[in-house]
Amino acid sequence: MAEATDPTSHSDHSDHSDHSDHSDHSDHSDHPSYPMPRTCPYTLPEGYQELLDRPTLGKVRLPSGKLAWATARYEDVKAMLGDNRFSSDLRRPGYPLMMDHQVPAPEFSTSLVGMDPPEHTLARRAVAADFTPRSINRLRPRIQEITDEYVDRLLAGPRTADLIDAFANPVPLLVICELLGVPFADREFFLRTSFTVMNATTPEAGGVATAELMGYMDGMVTDKERTPTDDLIGRLAARRGEPGVPDHRDLVGMAFMLLMAGHETIANVIGLGAMLLLERPVLRKSLAADPSRWPATIDELVRYFTIAEIANSRVALEDVEIGGVRIAAGEGVLGLTVGANRDPLRFADPDVFDPDRVERSLAFGFGAHQCIGQHLARTELEVVLTTLFERIPELRLAAPVEALRFKEEHVNYGLHALPVTW
Ligand code: HEM
Repeated sequence: MAEATDPTSHSDHSDHSDHSDHSDHSDHSDHPSYPMPRTCPYTLPEGYQELLDRPTLGKVRLPSGKLAWATARYEDVKAMLGDNRFSSDLRRPGYPLMMDHQVPAPEFSTSLVGMDPPEHTLARRAVAADFTPRSINRLRPRIQEITDEYVDRLLAGPRTADLIDAFANPVPLLVICELLGVPFADREFFLRTSFTVMNATTPEAGGVATAELMGYMDGMVTDKERTPTDDLIGRLAARRGEPGVPDHRDLVGMAFMLLMAGHETIANVIGLGAMLLLERPVLRKSLAADPSRWPATIDELVRYFTIAEIANSRVALEDVEIGGVRIAAGEGVLGLTVGANRDPLRFADPDVFDPDRVERSLAFGFGAHQCIGQHLARTELEVVLTTLFERIPELRLAAPVEALRFKEEHVNYGLHALPVTW
């Protein structure tokens, strides 16, 4: 989602006035700017190597003009994300928002991402059962059906297509519909409106579509409260009043958050993964000969592209020492997982794409907020990419990688379009 159209944005700096904002505007020293554009999909963005090479943490300047600490080494990022003395609460002064106006609107208050313990622990426990490997395995046949349907559509259409538009975007959206329990009759509307939210070119257009989608979610939650259904939102609606279970308003916020967290992330990895595999016939051949190599290949794709970095931002609740510096209470910290996942102290030959690696990366985060959707992501990516290459073995790029447009400045990294032919 582009920063300019972030639907969670709202200019309300209300509570938590007990913590002062230490992100000093008046420090005019020469700090590198963040985000640093990823000009090549396969290499580290400029400036990251320098952060990795530094003996201690450094500061970066955010688009808001404020400063934040940047952790880039694997061990430092992991230590920061695993430490409850750092808060995920976007409303706290000092939280390293890219732009000040990105403070989320009140209706998003209970989305897991921005909560701290003990509320976070209870809220996460309330939805955890829907994201276990076992629950996700139950979704697998539907993920396969949806994928097959969109491969059929691709094959029935013109022989040159945009894989993002025709495949990578709609498949994860429909999987989220399954998870949330969006009725079949509404899926066309849901797809169209979600797409507008994600791709709006002006904040106004994004705002209109977001309001429409929130209105829809509101109605859907009300229906499920009246008539319980066997899906994530339906089950939560039936358990209202239990500890950690969201009330009506928060359930609407949660449905919206899951849509945002679970759709574009996967679409981006499908696009980037397809691009990389289409450039590597030897790797494709080895996967076709031995499909048991797919899960490790998916994990390596997720490490190699590390598409979701900004999510790993925190603000210190008290003074904490990390990476040789003392981070003061109220200072913001970024966990630069794109750097951490290419840290040579952790990964041998980090720039090499190597599905045989055994070290786990931080691409799904670490600690209390580690991605709750990671089993779904792995399963979905495996089904989608296996099916695509099995059913269209002649698939190839219809444009050189140098000509492709990437989401360089977006919250999540990915491709705007991927022209393919067969
Ligand atoms: C390849 C795909 C994905 C990537 C790379 C990814 C990455 C991440 C990362 C880095 C975090 C940690 C954020 C933090 O520390 O604050 C996170 C959290 C989260 N992700 Fe994912 N994600 C993916 C797919 C999904 C999917 C499919 C869903 C659900 C349908 C999902 C739902 C969530 C939620 C709800 C959280 C917040 C968890 C919490 O705060 O307790 N993600 N994700």
